[in-house]
Amino acid sequence: EQEQTLYEQLGGEETVDRLVKAFYERVYRTPELIPLFQTDMQEVMEKQRLFLTQFLGGPAHYSMQYGPPRLRMRHLPFEITPARAQAWLRCMREAMDEIGLEGPLRDWFYMRLTQVAEFMVNTAEGPT
Ligand code: HEM
Repeated sequence: EQEQTLYEQLGGEETVDRLVKAFYERVYRTPELIPLFQTDMQEVMEKQRLFLTQFLGGPAHYSMQYGPPRLRMRHLPFEITPARAQAWLRCMREAMDEIGLEGPLRDWFYMRLTQVAEFMVNTAEGPT
């Protein structure tokens, strides 16, 4: 018997699609995140769909189209504060809840995203 990738165990293309949709519907309505997301939602969703597929061990279509992810560098044009990272993660948790992703695989996936999100922070909290 062959070992399945996390991508397959989570439900493959269908799960990633549903997650990405549920996630960006929230992101584009979250006050802390709205100023950063000026690009068309469909475009951003498509990139994230490709990226998360690859991140979970599925086909590496993101890198084939866009090259090495270098996510921290790609995020440098955007002011990512700790509060924005928390807002991003909250959208992700809610999206996972919405599509019914639960159990140890979800927990592991979310933990990995938490690490990436913390690494994306590039701006101190502003005075408010
Ligand atoms: C792109 C924000 C965390 C993956 C972007 C963009 C923004 C953004 C504003 C550009 C949208 C555009 O094209 O105009 C944030 C914020 C985060 C965060 C505020 C909070 C920590 C993450 C994490 C991941 C991720 C944790 C991965 C797990 C991506 C990918 C792209 C992207 C793959 C597309 C990059 C490209 O090819 O251009 N993000 N992001 N982001 N983000 Fe994030």
